[in-house]
Amino acid sequence: MNPIFRWLDERVDLRALKEQLLDRKMPGNLTWAHTLGSATLAVFLVQVVTGVVLAMYYAPSPDHAYDSIRYLQQHVLSGALLRGIHHWAASAMVVLVLAHMIRVFSTGAYKYPREINWLLGVVLLFLVLGFSFTGYLLPWDQKAYWATQVGTNIAGTTPGIGGMLVKLLRGGSQLGAATLSRFFALHVLLMPLLLTVVVFLHLAIVVRQGIAARTGAMEGGAPPRTSDPEYPAYYKQAYAKSKGAGVRFYPDLTAKDIVVVTAIILVLVLLGLFVGAGLEPPADPTDTSYVPRPEWYFLPFFQLLKLVPGSLESLVAVGIPTVLVILLVALPFFDRGSARAFSKRPIARFSLFFLLGGAGLLLGASFMGEQPGAIAAEVGRPLSNTERSGKAIFGASQCGSCHAVAGKGGGSQENAPNLSLIGLKHSGAWIHSFIENPLRFHADSKMPSFGPPTLSHQEIEEVTRYLVTLRGPGGELKQPEFVDTFPELPKPKEK
Ligand code: HEC
Repeated sequence: MNPIFRWLDERVDLRALKEQLLDRKMPGNLTWAHTLGSATLAVFLVQVVTGVVLAMYYAPSPDHAYDSIRYLQQHVLSGALLRGIHHWAASAMVVLVLAHMIRVFSTGAYKYPREINWLLGVVLLFLVLGFSFTGYLLPWDQKAYWATQVGTNIAGTTPGIGGMLVKLLRGGSQLGAATLSRFFALHVLLMPLLLTVVVFLHLAIVVRQGIAARTGAMEGGAPPRTSDPEYPAYYKQAYAKSKGAGVRFYPDLTAKDIVVVTAIILVLVLLGLFVGAGLEPPADPTDTSYVPRPEWYFLPFFQLLKLVPGSLESLVAVGIPTVLVILLVALPFFDRGSARAFSKRPIARFSLFFLLGGAGLLLGASFMGEQPGAIAAEVGRPLSNTERSGKAIFGASQCGSCHAVAGKGGGSQENAPNLSLIGLKHSGAWIHSFIENPLRFHADSKMPSFGPPTLSHQEIEEVTRYLVTLRGPGGELKQPEFVDTFPELPKPKEK
């Protein structure tokens, strides 16, 4: 025996540990999908290693954050590579966690006795999303700043506690230095700690319970429901039988794990090397024309927000995540049929396809929305409150009966221009003056004046703020070329 192993074994009983961890017997149904959990863990370790190096160069203050990242990118050996890997690994974590959950869901592995581990898994999912949300702000570039602005705004629409939540997230009413310190602390201190603890519990339970047996092995002659009093005894005996295959964690499952993990790390290095992580211009809180884009896995959610009418937006923004959490948490407690095979669980099958299909369609739609040709009504972000009330006034004042916007409305006045791209054509100042008194611009204008008393100055300004968001697909990236010509002011009368 290896002398080091023996020395340690005499002192800390290494052999028992090895038997418990490495030699543990497993049901003989190990598929490639069983590697997803350990792959997620491996990518987390990649994040720890790359994250520690990034933190060594990072300065968490609005004055220095951006420059510290740029310095890292340009002057630190492999700095850009490490940041690229960290960036792509963050996406990989989300994908792997979801894939792992889909595997567990479709094989019914969350059922008795694994309810607790499912719940811990749900906590891990949200921790991973929290990591992504807090990490996104740290480079303090335009993308970081505005996406966080939107994200915290959405939290602010929560009924009752919204205002408090925003303050808590931002460390004040505005997004600024306090927010950055806060997100940094969460990202590098609290979340890694929490994640480590929860992962440890998650794995300890996996070791104690053993991984779920092949679906068929637990079904023959099973009581119909896992809540039936005789189910635990049945489970114990059926599970023991399924372990007879003689498969062991090491080397049977670890061999597959190593292949998958190596492949993933290779892909991450290639992405880090050849694609890297972008860095936009530094955050400019005064540039309200910037259109934020969230990380791609939040896009289906944003697309959904774009589809619902303005009045329902805040309901959906808070409602959907809440319902999702409730469903995930409740799942192992209300789904107590003992059937585990996906083919025997029509509701589970339908729900999964519905969720995945819906998210896929929304993601597709959100990518399409950026392609030229398809007209996205508004800039690719949820409207601010002012813009939203401007949109409401636009509707209430029948502007849409003459003017089409993104293929909707128009028709009752044939000369009325389509306003889908008005934000690229005219400045806010021009639009405001025009709405107030079109006749001043064109003596024979067919557009009625909306100046007071029809609409107040405040209302006209709100409509204007809405109209300047109409820039079409990708418009947020275009530099508007205004063709404003103001009518000459009437000459002072000569006496
Ligand atoms: C009765 C039909 C009608 C209604 C209602 C109407 N408009 Fe117009 N609008 C027009 C016409 C026609 C023009 C073309 C310019 C002209 O005739 O002066 C125009 C031009 C404009 C322009 C300038 C577009 C450009 O490209 O130069 C803007 C901006 C505008 N309208 C906004 C609005 C807003 C906002 C409302 C609602 C508060 C509104 N319009 C209601 C008929 C209408």
